Amino acid sequence: MKGIKSFRPDRAARIRERAGDLLARMTLAQKIGQMTQPERLHIAPAQVREYHIGSVLSGGGSCPGRNRPADWVAMNDAYWAASMEEDAGHLAIPVLYGVDAIHGNANVLGATIFPHNIGLGAAGDPELVERIGRATAREVLAAGVDWTFAPTLAVARDPRWGRSYESYSEDPGLVAAYAGRIARGLQGAGNGDDPRRPGPGSESAHSGPNGAGLPQLGPDGVVACAKHWVGDGGTSAGVDQGDTRASEEELRRLHIAPYMPALEAGVLTVMVSLSSWNGEKCHAHRYLIRDLLKGELGFAGFVISDWNGADPLADDYGEAVAMAVNAGIDMFMVPERWREFISALTSQVEGGAVPMARIDDAARRILGVKFACGLFDRPRPALRRGAGGRRFGCREHRALAREAVRKSLVLLKNENGTLPLDRDARILVTGRNAHDRGRQCGGFTVEWQGVSGNDRIPGGASIWEGVRAVAPRAALCDKGGAAAAAGDFDAAVVVIGERPYAEGMGDIRAPGPVRPGASHPPAGPGALQPYGQTLELATLHPGDLAAIRGLASRGIPVVAVLISGRPLVIDAELAESAAFVAAWLPGSEGAGVADLLFGDRDFHGRLPMAWPNAMWPLPNGDAAGSGGAGILFPRGYGLRLG
Ligand code: GLC
Repeated sequence: MKGIKSFRPDRAARIRERAGDLLARMTLAQKIGQMTQPERLHIAPAQVREYHIGSVLSGGGSCPGRNRPADWVAMNDAYWAASMEEDAGHLAIPVLYGVDAIHGNANVLGATIFPHNIGLGAAGDPELVERIGRATAREVLAAGVDWTFAPTLAVARDPRWGRSYESYSEDPGLVAAYAGRIARGLQGAGNGDDPRRPGPGSESAHSGPNGAGLPQLGPDGVVACAKHWVGDGGTSAGVDQGDTRASEEELRRLHIAPYMPALEAGVLTVMVSLSSWNGEKCHAHRYLIRDLLKGELGFAGFVISDWNGADPLADDYGEAVAMAVNAGIDMFMVPERWREFISALTSQVEGGAVPMARIDDAARRILGVKFACGLFDRPRPALRRGAGGRRFGCREHRALAREAVRKSLVLLKNENGTLPLDRDARILVTGRNAHDRGRQCGGFTVEWQGVSGNDRIPGGASIWEGVRAVAPRAALCDKGGAAAAAGDFDAAVVVIGERPYAEGMGDIRAPGPVRPGASHPPAGPGALQPYGQTLELATLHPGDLAAIRGLASRGIPVVAVLISGRPLVIDAELAESAAFVAAWLPGSEGAGVADLLFGDRDFHGRLPMAWPNAMWPLPNGDAAGSGGAGILFPRGYGLRLG
């Protein structure tokens, strides 16, 4: 596999020089401080200065003040100011703030919330994804933030995985087609480069083997983070943070190949996966991180751990930290116990378990990214051009999100020309997810696990609100009793599907505690449970089939709209519906659904993942079976109206 090309070797040399000069003046405490990333709830600005902290993050749903852009800017301004104080004991090194802006800056109230990645995969439009990256970056900058933990480049191979919706596709080719585009969209167009191929070999920072440097951010760019390295979407039975059993050839073909375009595009950071490869934790995997990513592929940015990612590596925390640092991880997401991390790593260095050269490499990479993204040269967050921005949640971004919704929907069934609906017809809109902007956004929206209801998703439109805007004789009946009203209507739109979830809480598997992920207070062992034990919608949410059946049995043609983070087994619901639309997790702009239901635009989407049927997974454990016996619709399936 070829390494990545270099970016303007002259610029790489300048970055090396500036970083090298600063590094030479740093103490061990200052270098380890740069490698430390606490969560905002557990560190004050004064401590950022005192401990020379390199980065702070918001876990999903960890939001300052009233959670408006101005509150985020004020928070970031305080952290930045503390990090830039210079005196005998402290060097001015700007702190880098990171968030999960994975489908818009969706933590923040009023943000434009784009379809989650699985819907974008159905759209099959890399150029659209780049535009979404640019809009997302602007709304991240509006909050005074410089770094997003996106894109997820997972290749989801099993819909039982709770993070399937964060994957663009089960097809590595489609993920690869998006990877470079989203990286460029997020980081901006300033990626001037001279294509040269470094050979295999050294892993030194800023200059991969032959000068592979770091791109600069565009004026509206933020630092991107390709994740989770590597194979997170390939675990057995889709268990989150589970084990990906694969030969190296399969791992490279299915899970590593999609990273190449992002690395070529100059993605500045990579996050390591909490999963394992053939039984070995990725966070301890020197071959995957130092030899392959940094050596063979020439990655010159920095590698960050995932949430407390070192913890499971050994019983002794110091030993675990040493394993992860020596494997090549440069920065550590240690939300609560960051002091313990600093102390443990300091001891491991002083005891000789971690060579000083590895610390220097880590700190040099972190400084290099901060120089490359212009962080040293930017004004404080409150004074930056885009801060608090008028672009946040703006009409232009919402129109883009609505375009993405239209392109993402997949038409699975349309009997007797049920669709498009007539705008003047009497349309009954019902179903648990019909008027619920929170549920249509899914996880990693305002809260880590997402929200239900409308009050925390200001702006945008629910699916009902989109229908109401174009069909004057439509009526909403989402609190039960729809069947009783059936006689008065010509057709019914029944919006069904999942409630929001994130990470292991979305897994489909036997009950049992889920290892916590981003920013939730662990409420005791077993508090966090998987979503359910089956992909069968009629078992997970029986009210959906009942709602469809109640109307269909009265002769009302039902248009079912499924809100879900993945394909679900829908044999029963499909049979009773005249038309069926997979809407995935469309985000804030639910009006895009009405655009297609009433024929403003034709359907465009095609399945990014094969759709299972009631036989899935086959008894022999083979999900689809050689002849596709477990598949209802193949990847690429999607009907058109015209
Ligand atoms: C989580 C996720 C990761 C996210 C991080 C910060 O555990 O695995 O994708 O970026 O924590 O929220």
